[in-house]
Amino acid sequence: MEEQEAVGRLMAEMTLAEKIGQLNLLAAGEGLVTGAAQHTPLARRLDAGQVGAIFGTKSRASARAMQERALAGSRLSIPVFFAEDVIHGHRTVFPINIALACSWDLDLIEETAAHAAAEAAAEGLHHVFAPMIDISRDPRWGRVAESPGEDPLLAARIAAAMTRGFQGRNIADADRVAACLKHFVGYGAPESGRDYDNVSLSWEDLLAVHLPPFQAGVAEGAASVMVAFNAVNKLPMHANKPLIEGWLRKGEGFDGLVISDYTGVKELTAHGLGPAAVAVARALHAGIDMDMVGEDFLEKLPTLAREGVEAPHAGFSLSAAEIVDLVDKACHRVLIFKSRLGLLSNPFKGLAENPVAPSRQEGRKLARKAAARSTILIKNDHSLLPLPLDQKVALIGPFAADRANMLGTWAVSGKVEDVIPLNEAVKALTGTEPAVAWGANIVDELWLEQRLNVHGVTVERDSRSEDAILKETMAAAHAADVVIATIGEAKEHAGESSSRLAPDLPAPQRRLISRLANTGKPLVVVVFAGRPLALGEVAEKADALLFAWHGGIAGPQGVADVLFGAASPAGRLAVSLPTHPGEVPLYHAAEPTGRPSLGNFQKFRSNWLDLPDDAIRFPFGFGLGYGTVRYGSPALSSDTAMATETVLLSLKIENTGPGEVVETVQLYASDPVARVTRPARMLIDFKQVTLSAGEARELVFEITAQQFRYPIALSLLSAEWVRDPGTIQLHVGANSRDTQSVELKWLT
Ligand code: GLC
Repeated sequence: MEEQEAVGRLMAEMTLAEKIGQLNLLAAGEGLVTGAAQHTPLARRLDAGQVGAIFGTKSRASARAMQERALAGSRLSIPVFFAEDVIHGHRTVFPINIALACSWDLDLIEETAAHAAAEAAAEGLHHVFAPMIDISRDPRWGRVAESPGEDPLLAARIAAAMTRGFQGRNIADADRVAACLKHFVGYGAPESGRDYDNVSLSWEDLLAVHLPPFQAGVAEGAASVMVAFNAVNKLPMHANKPLIEGWLRKGEGFDGLVISDYTGVKELTAHGLGPAAVAVARALHAGIDMDMVGEDFLEKLPTLAREGVEAPHAGFSLSAAEIVDLVDKACHRVLIFKSRLGLLSNPFKGLAENPVAPSRQEGRKLARKAAARSTILIKNDHSLLPLPLDQKVALIGPFAADRANMLGTWAVSGKVEDVIPLNEAVKALTGTEPAVAWGANIVDELWLEQRLNVHGVTVERDSRSEDAILKETMAAAHAADVVIATIGEAKEHAGESSSRLAPDLPAPQRRLISRLANTGKPLVVVVFAGRPLALGEVAEKADALLFAWHGGIAGPQGVADVLFGAASPAGRLAVSLPTHPGEVPLYHAAEPTGRPSLGNFQKFRSNWLDLPDDAIRFPFGFGLGYGTVRYGSPALSSDTAMATETVLLSLKIENTGPGEVVETVQLYASDPVARVTRPARMLIDFKQVTLSAGEARELVFEITAQQFRYPIALSLLSAEWVRDPGTIQLHVGANSRDTQSVELKWLT
């Protein structure tokens, strides 16, 4: 109550202009404000009390100077808060989020967020633009790299874990920050996988697939939400009152801060909703509290608050009084947010001279563990891996000694020099310097030309001819006992505005693998990527294959640990790997259609003429370990139950060796008869256990009727969640395909 009173008193004293100033979220940008002398647009805004928050400060000193200037410029000494894109770590860069999702290790994921929060808070940051929790089922979309993958249950648990990690018990604590659930909502399902494109979703899919991670984050107490650029079913999210005020605030009881994405308010004009004044009115009316960078709130609200807005051509109008009321509501939420951060009583929170930053050594240890746990062992013929430490190894390919790409996308505070490359990681582990030979460039020549002037490409461009390069690589391969090929994508070829038409490996790399396979040497392939890639014949030609993503500052160390058995591969696919680059969107929880092919599960949709039926598939949840896990038969405490009862499914698993295994036992369900189509299989729970060789464990899953509710929707706000009596099939196993089934009949 005290918080409300303090903010209420402040609001009562503020002028309209001061309230509008609180809704302005600016980038720190170049020419940071470090003293009175500098006059940047930011400085002018600070002097005029027209800044509510700043993101992208690069040091405590500049943030402190900005805070001093903000307080001086604000008649009532209202502080700004500082935010940053802390997406997968801050100074300690962890594996990209899709990689972390593949660890299925919620404690680990929470730990990485907590470490990032402590690092960020020690630099005077109060708010992070994370977790990104957009469900993504289309590897053409570049931001799958930041996403928690394709499954709503896994994504929801990750959303909650990261929110806990960032916020702890109190966002005002010295080593915690406010989380920001983004991008609300549906951003990961753009047409054709093109970033920012329109999203058309059934209301059922919006409710059952894309909203659950936000529901979980809100339930965990996330302090803020960032709105997505895209339109959902013809209504741009930055004007989407039904979803923001309706579903999020009224429906889920969210009482935190809602911020726009970068110029997202301004972009409503490009979406076709009218000129800037109408865009601003619609965004504010929809429930957006702060305008990131565009400054349209700042510019348009003073006039709108006097005159209101009439936009008959856009079917929209608001009176001046309504605008003023909306400004009050938004400003109140901004001040409550600052109060919850402890900033109203301590404007220099985190900006003290000697903050306690977490140990960088501890951070690297955690990053190395996360990298190993996120690495997926896709293939391991003849148990080639783990390699003996005395093997003569040749590292061949563009990632053999790479640093820059390992940071992955959205590592805004990471440093390339913090990455320990694979060749050095192998040497440190084995004591022997591996031969290193460049394979082909990471990207096709064509791409290199196209992309050089857009994103830049973090690869040294090897100016030699492909033949000259191959000559060198073949010599290295012939001289080695085992060849480790390191291929994949540049970090700029995933991430924002980095969609790709064909999510596959560049042709020069595929040619390299063919040649290496022809040497007859044992061939290990390690793929470093920001998205799931169609591996095609590379998966056939490799004797062993690791999917390692862009693993952060200790990515290569984690890979080396898995290669030589210092860590067991625990990764399980959080996204289905496409077999062909055209096989998108792709996800395990698809409805069966009227013509599922009988028998072989993974062909349960009509096939394509240009995709062989027996193409190798690596389904959602798939991954191998260094041990062999034997699954006992699942048993139910009862095969019938009333809707009020809980049924137990128990199962014994045993690691018959030879190595330690981190096993993620997954429980899926099918609802074969319902009122509408239902996914052929959906993940309803999972448990992760570590088993040493010879160890057995009994697992017990609790099954409740609630897990089988599904939405029937006429429209978003007239959706009804229903559940039917009848038989449910339960499938338990090591991934979404290789399972054992039992049936449970709900009597009511
Ligand atoms: C970007 C991204 C968003 C990010 C913001 C600030 O365009 O969409 O995820 O937090 O701008 O950098």
